[in-house]
Parts: sequence; C-alpha cells; structure tokens
Amino acid sequence: MTEKPKHGLARGAANYGDPEFALYLRRSFAASMGYSRQALERPVIGIADTASDYNNCHRTVPELVGAVKRGVMLAGGLPLAFPTVSLCEPSLTPTSMHYRNLMALDTEAMLSAQPMDAAVLIGGCDKTVPAQLMAAVSADVPAVMLVTGPMLAQRFEGERLAACTDCRRYWARYRAGEVTPEKIGAIEEKLATSAGTCGVMGTASTMACLAAALGFMPLMAASAPAVHADRLRMAEEAGALAMRLLTHPVRPSQLVTEKSVENALRVLLSLGGSTNALVHLAAIAGRAGIPVDLKRLDALSEETPVLVDLKPTGEGYMEDFHAAGGMVALLRELRDLLHLDTIDLYGRTLAEQLDAGSAFVDRGIIHARATPVSPVGGLVALFGSLAPDGAILKRSAATPALFETEARCVVFDGLEDLSRRIDDPDLDVTAQDILVLKNVGPLTPAGMPEAGYLPIPKKLARAGVKDMVRMSDCRMSGTAFGTIVLHISPEAAAGGPLGLVETGDRVRLSVKHRSLDLLVEPAELARRRAAWQAPARPKRGWDQLMFDQVLQAPEGADLRFLRPEGA
Ligand code: FES
Repeated sequence: MTEKPKHGLARGAANYGDPEFALYLRRSFAASMGYSRQALERPVIGIADTASDYNNCHRTVPELVGAVKRGVMLAGGLPLAFPTVSLCEPSLTPTSMHYRNLMALDTEAMLSAQPMDAAVLIGGCDKTVPAQLMAAVSADVPAVMLVTGPMLAQRFEGERLAACTDCRRYWARYRAGEVTPEKIGAIEEKLATSAGTCGVMGTASTMACLAAALGFMPLMAASAPAVHADRLRMAEEAGALAMRLLTHPVRPSQLVTEKSVENALRVLLSLGGSTNALVHLAAIAGRAGIPVDLKRLDALSEETPVLVDLKPTGEGYMEDFHAAGGMVALLRELRDLLHLDTIDLYGRTLAEQLDAGSAFVDRGIIHARATPVSPVGGLVALFGSLAPDGAILKRSAATPALFETEARCVVFDGLEDLSRRIDDPDLDVTAQDILVLKNVGPLTPAGMPEAGYLPIPKKLARAGVKDMVRMSDCRMSGTAFGTIVLHISPEAAAGGPLGLVETGDRVRLSVKHRSLDLLVEPAELARRRAAWQAPARPKRGWDQLMFDQVLQAPEGADLRFLRPEGA
C-alpha cells in the first residue's frame, strides 16, 4: 500500500526513530500555542517574516504578515510566520552584500526543515529578494514572493525627493560646495519619508520587477507603493495564491528557466535597471543551473530599448511607474522580444498575463518602442586585458562623451586608501584621469560594497567636474549614476589583472567595442605579478566561509557549494 502524501504539520517529522511519536510531540507542542486540533490539521503556509528594527525598508512587514495570514485562513489554511535574517542596505558592515548568501542559506534551511506546504516570502530591501529567490530555487518549495513595495516621493522646496538618487545628487552638490550644511541637514529627513524601499529604479525596485518577470508574483505587485491599500490586498492575495499552489502546484524550478531568465534580462535592460540585479539574477539562475552569459546580455542590450523614464536613468519615481501601468504596460511594449510561453505561479503564460488587465499606459513614464528613452539597453558588458571575465557599465546612467576614453589611472588600493587620499588637495589628479579602486571584490573583507561610485575628488568637484571614468571590482548602488565600470572580473584579490594596475598606467575604455584594456607591457605585468601577494584567509566564521567559497560576479557571487552539482 502506498503511503498517503503528508501535508501540513505532518511533513518532515523530527527524527527520533519513531515518526508517530515525533508527530505526536510536534502537535502537542504546537497545541501549547493555543491552536485547536482542527487548526493543526490544516495545510500549512510558512511566511518568511523579515521585520527588523534595523530594516526601515521592511517597516510594514508586520502588517503584511497579517494580511497574508488573512488570505491563507480565508482559503482554509494555517499560516505560520517564522523569522529569518533580514538585511537593510545602509545598516550593515562591511556591506549587506556580504550577508546576502547567509540570508539565502538561512531561508533555504528554514523552508526545507520546517513543515509547510507552500511559502510566502516577504522581502523588499536590495539583498532580501535575491536571497529569498535563491533559497526558494534551491529548496524548490512552492513560494510566492511578496515585496514590501516602494516608498512615496516627498515634496521639498518645489521638487520631489526620494531615496536614493536624490541622496547622492545632493551629497555630490554638497561636496562641490553648492549646497550649505544647513540645507543638506534639512534634506536628510526628507529623502525617505514613507515606509517602503527606495523610490527609484534602484536595486530593490529592479529586483521586484525581475521577480515578477520570473513569475514569482503578479506583474502589478512589483510596483504598488508600500503604503497603498493595494499592497495589503496583494499580501492577502499572496496568502490565497500560496494555498492555491497546494492544488495547482508550480515550483520555483518551473519558473526559473532559460526563457524566463532571458525575459528577466530584457526587463532589466528596458528598465535601465540596477547593475546589481545582474549579479543577483546570475545567482538566482545559477541555483537552477542556468548561467547568465554576459556576451548574451550584450547582444540583448543592442536590441532592447530603455523604455522606462525613472531615476537614476530618467526623471520619475516608482509610484509614477505603477500609476503609468507598471510591468504589464512595459511588457506589452516589449511583447515581440519576450518568450511568451513562460508561466507564473497561477500557471498563466506570459501571453495570458499580458492579455489581461487595464490597457492604460502613461507614455510620459513608459515610452513606446518608437520613442524610447534610449534605443539600446541600459547595461553593457566589457571584456579585455583588464577584465578577462567581464565588467559592467550602466550606459544609460553614464556620460556618452566619456564612452571612448584612453587615459592615465589614479589608483586607490582599497577603501581606506580611497577615503584617506581622495580629497587630499595634493592628490595628483585631473578631470581627464580614470579613477581606479581595487581590492574591493567579493573575496575581500570589504565584501564587494557599493563603493564603485567613487566620489569626484573634492578639488575637481568644486571646479565643476560632474563625472569622470571610474572603475573597480565592486558594485554601485542601483540608485547611482556616472561613467562607472563595475564588477571587474576576476577581481584583484583573486589575482585578476586589476590587482596589477598602478597609478600612471594607461587604460582604454571603449563602449563601442565593448572593451576594457590595460595598456602595460607584458614584461612589466609579469614582473608585477611575480611580486603580487594573495590576500590572507580570514581566521573564522562567516568571513572565512565566504573567502573559501564565494564565486566571482559573473557567477552571481554565490557560494560554490550551494550551486547544483556540475553548474
Ligand atoms: Fe532598502 Fe534602498 S535601502 S531599498
């Protein structure tokens, strides 16, 4: 006789060598929380609760958990919320990226170890959604993604402000002496005035859109503001959808496919989205054994226009994108470029999703293909002797006049060196130089921070310089802008050529030829390589595990042992 499939609390009993006793014990302990026998026999929906006093972007999570529970219970299930690691971008040292894989590991373990029939994952801030999707793919538990949603922009002295493009814009003006200390102080409390994630097309917003493109949530759920009632209704729907997955199962492994990953890349390009999303998408796809090929990204970039006019590439905010028709309107515009047979958690094809819903679109925010924000995609990959395994440039947020640059480098060896010398009045630097920051990749104690947006040296900023070519093996915030080459691979600490660059070397950047070359004689490079020293292994803990296992940016900076065998 075949055993009946187990559901709810009966799943995955603790191992005492007596499964019936294990279930008896589990029920009696659960009963101690006041649940009735009838409640404990219901299907269980686990809810990853990422509320944290350290995470402002998740301020609404308690309310969302309540709405998800309502949706689960209305559909006859038992919702059980559980805590996981929660990462807030500005709250962590050395950087939240250093802990994305820890959150993924924690979430995967809890999805796999605890009894649940499906899950709702509540994320929002930059690293949380990637971590949760990585976990969902590896655990392959049916999972609905629910994001906290973007903050609203705030009116201040006749303009609108929201984190964090405006933070950077005002800080650059303050450094240049154009904004007084009093005004920068006043703006500090006006940049993030409502609950929610950064209000521009930064990493959090980009990842929400990619999660929807992959099928982990309804398309319009990517952009509804955090404080709108719609967001709570979406949470209730997420609970109901998780229950639906019990009778109509769709697993993460069915959502993350070569076709859906390519759709996600198209979306990333058309949004003018965050460079970080490329690293995260590579990590999520990598969990499914699907590589993200930077050369393919480049090919897609040539035929995928930027259509969304949001900061930092354009002018609008996420609330404008939502009101303009959101992901439905954007994907309709891209329709002929997309694989329309990918599915979402309802089992609907992308074609079916695009045929449903309102036809409204605000062309001020979501442009038509005939009149794009930019005729080509927001990101390009660069290869060459300085980046044998690739580097990324967000051309939609860069200065076209700097796309073809050959210049002398001014090199900073890590973050301490950068902060010590960048504003030194005696620093030998001109606006024509290239600023290079090395030893800040995934392997380093710095943990691949968002430091790629190197500040313009104060003396140049005060002379009116707004942009320079900057390059590094780290990342930059999705809300930042400038002619900035990122994710140079292999990183300096892994023995990449970047580690050999010295002040005075010449480097050639060509966006046209997608190249990044170090113009130093091979004999000289061989001499420097012989003198190069590998970084010391951290002594213990998470830092040591990262050092031993972390992969390079093109592989998503994931941990090697968490990828499927052979990937
Ligand atoms: Fe959380 Fe920007 S700091 S989304």
